[in-house]
Amino acid sequence: MNIATRLNSALSVRDQFPAIAGWHYLDSAATAQKPQAVIDAITNAYGRDYATVHRGVYERSAAMTQSFEAARDAAAALIGGQADELIFTRGATEAINLIAARFANGMRKRVLLSALEHHSNIVPWQLAGYAIDVVPLTDDGRIDLDAAERMANESHAILSFAHVSNVLGSILDAKRAAAIAHKVGAKLLLDGCQAAPRLKIDVVDLDCDFYVYSGHKLYGPTGIGCLWGRSELLNAMTPYQGGGAMIDQVTFEKTSFLDAPARFEAGTPHIVGAIGLHAAIDWTQDIGLDALHAHETALVGECRAALRSIPGVTLFGPEDSAGIVSFGVDGVHPHDIGTILDDERVAVRAGHHCAQPLMEVLGVPATARASFAAHSDASDIEALVQGLHTVKRIFG
Ligand code: ALA
Repeated sequence: MNIATRLNSALSVRDQFPAIAGWHYLDSAATAQKPQAVIDAITNAYGRDYATVHRGVYERSAAMTQSFEAARDAAAALIGGQADELIFTRGATEAINLIAARFANGMRKRVLLSALEHHSNIVPWQLAGYAIDVVPLTDDGRIDLDAAERMANESHAILSFAHVSNVLGSILDAKRAAAIAHKVGAKLLLDGCQAAPRLKIDVVDLDCDFYVYSGHKLYGPTGIGCLWGRSELLNAMTPYQGGGAMIDQVTFEKTSFLDAPARFEAGTPHIVGAIGLHAAIDWTQDIGLDALHAHETALVGECRAALRSIPGVTLFGPEDSAGIVSFGVDGVHPHDIGTILDDERVAVRAGHHCAQPLMEVLGVPATARASFAAHSDASDIEALVQGLHTVKRIFG
């Protein structure tokens, strides 16, 4: 079934995204555009319903608190978790920083990451004083879990991997990664930024210990992200920040803290961000993650075939990438590719994609990257191909 026919809207999927009119927006992996349903939810939350949460005794505040907590329910349910295990953060970056700073696994001070990780899954571990071991990639750009199995040992506090690579689109066999981690008494953190908008996720079935994702890559607002963790792990961690709403009792001598999620949500939260995220989750669920994944998989297949037919184009990543196609053109810097495509109103990302160690593995300074979303269609791929012919003419 076409994804358009699954939506509870008279508008086509594309027409529900006002900001892409006239554009071929192929940068959803950086940040997704927002459907009108999300824009309306944010407008109504500020323009009609706004009040604080968890503090007001008046009716409007109680209603806002209900909406805020309903957003938490939805954010947890999206990945198969429970609401009391779901912490709202500023984004996935903050979520990983929080875990790196506060999770402890006895005296273990090493982590096992992979060569394709985003900087936000590298730098927080360095800042937290962990030594890092790096799992290499397979030839087609997946995290090499055979190598991970050989490398994982009882010095590792945690294995932390991208569920879907933001550069290569490769999908991790997360269940196997969990088994590898647990065999040595380590935990598994999955960076789900690129997976949450593209795959149906069930953290219980995956058997991971922490899962993080960001709102703005899932058609929601910026400034809101989610950290899911097993309750026993979360409640054993000391708070990341102190302030209002996370305490039980405060005196000048001593403070006791609430359990998760409040324990990790000091201060007035991003109320409208959560409500916008809820609308984005509902919108995504309306289509269905399976349908979205099938839609993007078909586009990736078409895109890779079309790019492969252009001489001098190199494709990175596996054939079954989730929604992301990274590529290069011989003799042309990806920034020039991006600039020329921009002239034709085709938006791609060009650069190291916050994954400098991966660029080193690929042997390139940067790549160009096309990434898809619900609104993407064959016209975007045609425009990309036309634009690349222009690139070749200019640099030919
Ligand atoms: N992580 C985002 C990207 O891949 C910013 O573009």
